[in-house]
Amino acid sequence: MTFEFSDRIKRLPPYLFAELETLAREKKRCGVDLISLSIGDPDLPPPPFILESLKEEAGDLKNHNYSFSQGEPAFRTAVTEWCKERFGVDLKNDQVISLLGSKEGIANTARAFINPGDRVLVPDPAYPVYANGSAILCDGKTVPIPLLEENNFKPDFDTINTEGAKMMFLNYPNNPTAATVDKNFLKDAIDFAKEHNIILCYDNAYSEITYDDYRAPSILEVDGAIDVALEFHSLSKTFNMTGDRIAFAVGNKKLVDGLAKVKTQIDSGPPVYTQKAATKALASYKNHEVPAFLKKNNQTLQERRDLLVTTLCKLGYEVESPKATFYVWVNCKCDSMKFAARLLDVGVAITPGLGFGKYGEGYARITFTQPKERIVEACNRIAAAF
Ligand SMILES: Cc1ncc(COP(=O)(O)O)c(C=O)c1O
Repeated sequence: MTFEFSDRIKRLPPYLFAELETLAREKKRCGVDLISLSIGDPDLPPPPFILESLKEEAGDLKNHNYSFSQGEPAFRTAVTEWCKERFGVDLKNDQVISLLGSKEGIANTARAFINPGDRVLVPDPAYPVYANGSAILCDGKTVPIPLLEENNFKPDFDTINTEGAKMMFLNYPNNPTAATVDKNFLKDAIDFAKEHNIILCYDNAYSEITYDDYRAPSILEVDGAIDVALEFHSLSKTFNMTGDRIAFAVGNKKLVDGLAKVKTQIDSGPPVYTQKAATKALASYKNHEVPAFLKKNNQTLQERRDLLVTTLCKLGYEVESPKATFYVWVNCKCDSMKFAARLLDVGVAITPGLGFGKYGEGYARITFTQPKERIVEACNRIAAAF
């Protein structure tokens, strides 16, 4: 039997993270005590009140039927209340859709709007799902938007070729560069999208993982955003729930409707018990304050960040201390694969910038999703390697 992959599958580049995982597994198999600073999966647990809620709701027999493709009404209401509380943004329930993780929503939105040959503007470097899961798997054409250090890893809208472009992805706080933006930048992005009739998919997965009093804005805070934008949020990073697969998209109703049309045909909403626990999680935001759990979580991450940044600076790397995310983006001043290989040799796994696109070359992403003592040990090993 010879079963051929579809052309679109053949067009996918190798998923670099999977290759790294294989390499790392191989090291571990050989007995190396590998410290993984490569994958963006927090080591910290969800807060106890969410674990309790998950246990309780999963134990309720009523919570094991299919959920609506667009999500449970109570969950969508909780999302609208959270958007109001957190960003001061007013939304209706029909401008909200639940997701089985924001990755799924990002990929499926393109399915609703991208025809073969349509151009999709994708930041480079970027989370690979925009180019692969969205553009390529929908037979769209990826147009890279370079994110350059001299522009603080923000796009220069004046230089983007918009011909045939139907959709654009933006992501701040940014993975992998950890760059952040303010509302003025978001206003420029909305103006650009409106002028060229481009759907703006804004990935705000890291909006809650912030430090030094920085608070990330929502693109929906900008006047007119609701005409062109769909914003993705996730409980994965905010509440350390990556494996629970619960997220949501909010924004323009036509964009939500398109995504709902796709999802109705291919899946149902996230498990009802997960949505119920997520409802409680969102309701923990009160009085415009950062919830206690999140304050503590980000304080822990901030201490690790400071350790890592200090070590890298001592070694002569110019590293910006990130105001958000759990990534440090290092200009490694050399071939990023070689840099990663050198660190792998001393038992530290990081991600070479090339894995995020060609403009990521010369950089490396180091995550601080390991306990402090492991970060200290990793720092010692990095220092020894250089
Ligand atoms: C920028 C960005 N967006 C979205 C996601 C996906 O998150 P999830 O599918 O867990 O909601 C990730 C995960 O690493 C990410 O880095």
